[in-house]
Amino acid sequence: MFNTIIKKNYDEVSSEAFKIMKDVVTSTPRPVLGLATGSSPVGMYKKMIADHNSNGTSYQNCVTFNLDEYVGLPKTHDQSYYTFMHENLFSGIDVPEENIHIPNGEAADEKAACDDYENELKKYTVDIQILGIGSDGHIAFNEPGTPFTSETHLMDLTEQTRRDNARFFDGDIDEVPTEAITQGLASIMRAKKIVLIATGANKAEAVYNMIHGPKITDCPASILQDHADVTVIMDEAAAAKL
Ligand code: F6R
Repeated sequence: MFNTIIKKNYDEVSSEAFKIMKDVVTSTPRPVLGLATGSSPVGMYKKMIADHNSNGTSYQNCVTFNLDEYVGLPKTHDQSYYTFMHENLFSGIDVPEENIHIPNGEAADEKAACDDYENELKKYTVDIQILGIGSDGHIAFNEPGTPFTSETHLMDLTEQTRRDNARFFDGDIDEVPTEAITQGLASIMRAKKIVLIATGANKAEAVYNMIHGPKITDCPASILQDHADVTVIMDEAAAAKL
């Protein structure tokens, strides 16, 4: 079941997502936050930092799990998701470093890194999972064709995803890693509550397919049709085909 919210612009979309996040953080004794990277959640992260600074909302008791990480980029690379999360959120709030979980994209044994991450994730129930959506309908880095039963796994990134993400690598697709470690679709579906943020015209088709298309692995996000609590927060461009 989808609860859909359409807002005028990215700032309003971010405010709406922030409200839901703050409600979970302030009403749950030990909140478990599922976090995403990419452009979509950045506005919400800014609002979390501003609210932490001005109202003292604390993340001391939070545990966080990120969705994914590029394989082969050192943690310290400016485009690793480790760096992204520290720059865009963690350095601005008081979540303890030891409570932060991000897949290890530098592990020699990638399969073991996936299994370790999934086992750690399974010790918790994610209270709120933030998602973006790829223009090909991916969530986390579960590209089209990924089984709905998937747990944390290694994924070859599609050409389309690498093209979409080249903007973070000085526009050079050759610099975008070809693989990622990602939570699977079944991992994501265990979250209690999901908030998906989608803005811009290039998301409109994926958003339509997620909500109204058949539930098929061609559109990985269509699995969310089976989740009991999904809020999709969009701007008008992303909602244009609904
Ligand atoms: C990031 C992630 C991806 C992005 C998606 C949309 O952790 O899991 O699924 O959410 O690629 O990216 P943006 O928000 O940059 O359009």
